[in-house]
Amino acid sequence: MRKDPMPTLDREPTRRLFLWRSLTMGSAAVAAGSGFANGMGNPDNQPPNVPDWSRSLGEGVAVRAYGKPSEFEKNVIRRDVEWLTASRESSVSFTPLHALDGNITPNGLLFERHHSGIAEVDPADYRLMLHGLVDKPLLFTLDDIKRMPRVNRPYFCECAANSGMEWRGAQLDGCQYTHGMVHCVMYTGVTLKTLLDEAGLKTNAKWLLLEGGDAAAMTRSLPLQKALDDVLIAYRMNGEMLYPENGYPVRAVIPGWEANMWVKWLRRIEVGDQPWHHREETSKYTDLLENGKARQFTYVMDAKSVITCPSPQAPLKHNSGFTVLSGIAWSGRGKISRVDVSLDGGRNWRSARIDGPVWDKALVRFYYEFDWDGGELLIQSRAMDETGYVQPTKNELRKIRGVNSVYHNNGIQTWHVRKTGEVENVEVS
Ligand code: MTE
Ligand code: CO
Repeated sequence: MRKDPMPTLDREPTRRLFLWRSLTMGSAAVAAGSGFANGMGNPDNQPPNVPDWSRSLGEGVAVRAYGKPSEFEKNVIRRDVEWLTASRESSVSFTPLHALDGNITPNGLLFERHHSGIAEVDPADYRLMLHGLVDKPLLFTLDDIKRMPRVNRPYFCECAANSGMEWRGAQLDGCQYTHGMVHCVMYTGVTLKTLLDEAGLKTNAKWLLLEGGDAAAMTRSLPLQKALDDVLIAYRMNGEMLYPENGYPVRAVIPGWEANMWVKWLRRIEVGDQPWHHREETSKYTDLLENGKARQFTYVMDAKSVITCPSPQAPLKHNSGFTVLSGIAWSGRGKISRVDVSLDGGRNWRSARIDGPVWDKALVRFYYEFDWDGGELLIQSRAMDETGYVQPTKNELRKIRGVNSVYHNNGIQTWHVRKTGEVENVEVS
């Protein structure tokens, strides 16, 4: 690992954190002193008093037949941006990254992107057709697919348009909007290779057409090599059946590749010898360059990271002292090997601490702990993957790609932390 030769702003954290209220001071006194009005809560509910919720029996089992988060967490929801939404059906909602931790996105909070709204598929009527350049065309029911050998794999799924509004400069107020078109869940399904082996490929087979069962009938062309490598035909996420908005009952999982390829409500796979021509609206995911040319077939999502906390929607609530930065990193080319953090706009870098599993092509959770002197900060994170790829700055990307593109913006994000703890989206030159 590289040792940073530059002086750094921060000290190593001390073993004791010195941030807890001392019990000997009398917590009621502390609470009374700092008060209800200061967001410290109601002192009557705090030690040594008996709180409201300890005074009577609570609801019994099965009142909540399907659980949901505490009502005090009701702000942790998917959100959309009104001016980005052409219609409710052709739109996007964003994952509340600033309010989450760990590697896995909860099922109710996965960002959604639909071109023709959510298809409500009856699993009894569901069929998956596999035909084209195969020895034996096949039609699968959902039960047929569930009877095949199963695999469990966690993968991130990122829309190519994630961070797309940031190409021309800092724009949206919060990582939910700048980076929230990514999620990571544990998929259960069958490998596409298993299905193709059942049908038997003709020798001239080279490309696959994946078709969705929504009103858009979204289709994408998938190279056979990728199909045989790690593509899944998934029906579960985090153990549950897929939710309707994410493709119930079956979707394609194309690890590391742009989410547009991850066809939802998958109903047809056709094997051919060349890519198909697709309808513009749903499938022309090309990157327009400065010279008017466009990059096409840019399937892989390059390494990227973002600090999720603090961030504009998750300001710091203290004004100095021990502070934990947290964020996520991912790469479509494999495993994340390292994440660095800067507190001064990219002048000095320190290695972040990765905690939790480091899966292939999945979200990784990192932390950086430091003693904040209470001054202004320009915080950034920079991901590296096992191929040696280093996440570029936004200006480095603009030099190569200009600013006309919407897609594949994996530049380093900067947040400005003010002395008040408030955070805003900025750029450094
Ligand atoms: N599949 C179908 N059938 N229809 C769609 O509109 N949108 C694609 C992809 N698969 C889409 C689809 C795009 S652009 C993205 S970003 C992902 O689905 C979003 O997946 P999610 O809604 O599960 O997050
Ligand atoms: Co997309």
